Amino acid sequence: MSEIISHEVKLIVHKRESDLDQQTQHLFQKAREAAQNAYANYSHFQVGAALLLEDGKIIIGNNQENAVYPAGLCAERVAFFSAKSQNPQASIEKVVIVAKKRTESSFRLATPCGSCRQVMSEYEDNQENKIKLYMCDKDGKIYESDSIENLLPYKFSENMMNNS
Ligand code: THU
Repeated sequence: MSEIISHEVKLIVHKRESDLDQQTQHLFQKAREAAQNAYANYSHFQVGAALLLEDGKIIIGNNQENAVYPAGLCAERVAFFSAKSQNPQASIEKVVIVAKKRTESSFRLATPCGSCRQVMSEYEDNQENKIKLYMCDKDGKIYESDSIENLLPYKFSENMMNNS
């Protein structure tokens, strides 16, 4: 007999940004500023990410594109690699992701791509606490995930390469 196993992705939906705590609202502001400075000359799609470290430090990232398209990098990985290169031991508490078209002033929903989920997830596995992730849509609703793991069930991880 076959059986079905399934996993649910759970998101908390907040009606508006002002329902969040001050610190998270501040992170949204930083992510929006970062998006404005994205180097997105090819897609014209500007993404910003802002991370909060355990010591209160904020690290931002934005997408960096290139004429050799695959050489570019998403905002999330720019932010995570920057955070981890400068603060290798610091635990990451939160990540906020925002996105907009260059020609529009309003922000819209962008969910992290598979490669970014994989990268964020491995850092999460290496620390004690889960990383909270926040996104917003064009109506200003906020989507909160209590972990990266929640967004990447059945992910590949290092222990799969070990014997036993
Ligand atoms: N992008 C990000 O930076 N993060 C995401 O979550 C989705 C996509 C970037 C990659 C590329 O520069 C542009 O958005 C269009 O895919």
